[in-house]
Amino acid sequence: MNLQRIVLDNFRNHSSTLIDCSPGVNLFLGNNGEGKTNILEGISYFCLAKSFYAVSDSIVVKIGEPGFTATSKILSDSKVEYEIQVVFDRELNQKTVTVNKTRIDKASSLIGQFPVVILSPEQSTITFGSPADRRRFIDFVMSQSSRIYLENLIDYRRILKQRNKILSEMQTTRNENREAIEPWNDSLISVGSSIMKKRKEFIEDFKGIMVDAYARLSGMSERPEIEYSPSFEYVENSENVIEASFKNALQNQFSDERRIGYTLMGPHRDEFIFQINELHAKNFASQGQHKTFLVALKLAEFFYLKNRCNETPILLLDDVLSELDEYRCRRLLEAVANTGQVFITSTNEHALDGLSVVSANPRKFFVKQGRIERVEDSAKIN
Ligand SMILES: Nc1ncnc2c1ncn2[C@@H]1O[C@H](COP(=O)(O)OP(=O)(O)OP(=O)(O)O)[C@@H](O)[C@H]1O
Ligand SMILES: [Mg+2]
Repeated sequence: MNLQRIVLDNFRNHSSTLIDCSPGVNLFLGNNGEGKTNILEGISYFCLAKSFYAVSDSIVVKIGEPGFTATSKILSDSKVEYEIQVVFDRELNQKTVTVNKTRIDKASSLIGQFPVVILSPEQSTITFGSPADRRRFIDFVMSQSSRIYLENLIDYRRILKQRNKILSEMQTTRNENREAIEPWNDSLISVGSSIMKKRKEFIEDFKGIMVDAYARLSGMSERPEIEYSPSFEYVENSENVIEASFKNALQNQFSDERRIGYTLMGPHRDEFIFQINELHAKNFASQGQHKTFLVALKLAEFFYLKNRCNETPILLLDDVLSELDEYRCRRLLEAVANTGQVFITSTNEHALDGLSVVSANPRKFFVKQGRIERVEDSAKIN
């Protein structure tokens, strides 16, 4: 896909910003706090119908304004034009998403249609952080590539919340209310098993792409590994078998669950284990290995989504050029910039200098106090 135009109105510190994007590399430059990341956040609304990091839409509205509007023109790989518009009204707390002027019912149905891969400093938690951080990453990739998986996840969260509510009541009242929990067990098992089966299949597919990406980046003979480690064991990756084991696991855990008041088994307790040379990355990897692992995951995400969604994702790199060393950076951009569109923020105007593969055509946008002050097309200048 190709994001051709972005218009942000009353969005963060952007009162009214219009950006005509390059189909290749777009570099947003400026000092700290000028509004560079805000532009990437705007882009995330076109792909996810929400911010990639803000917890609520209302804080994205420019202070003192009643709401924001973000509009884009997108050309798909198959050359179909789309206008995506997201309008948020702070007072009504209402978000309206339209695709070619037609309102879509659920904002989430936008997810996957215009795939996006995001690399920002916060994402280092994927390799450094808790199991929840790794689950979030895997769920993010899978949700963009499968509508059914996304719906399963939304369902599962709802069911889990209800089941936890009942367990928590049992904990306070000390009453064992099996009748109240039974129907929730059935739904938890059914939806949960479907998620687990898909996670296992996903890791099998994704693993190879990730290993190739890692080799491309590190150029060394390190062996990365990704493994799915479900919260309970089962002998075969079929829904029936998982369901039976899930049922067993819940029965065995029931007294503990009642005591502590929440659900102990299921996809929300799964772990994804990332290893390098058979050692857990989380505990043993060096700083450089962490970075390589993370960039390899992102590269793999890019190629996996490109294949699955039949649409080339856009790549958002927020403030990562100084974090990654030049070698990794070059490799990442070499791999992506020839096929896809990239949006990069940096405080360093020369961040891409010397990267021969992209220096040919980055379009530079100088951002100042929520405005685009100046645009330079390197292709024309050089
Ligand atoms: N809702 C809002 N309304 C108005 N201004 C906002 C709002 N939210 C954030 N800002 C302002 O936006 C600016 C931050 O923008 P942004 O995070 O895009 O900066 P940046 O250019 O990426 O900076 P850095 O290089 O430090 O990452 C801050 O000056 C902040 O005060
Ligand atoms: Mg920033």
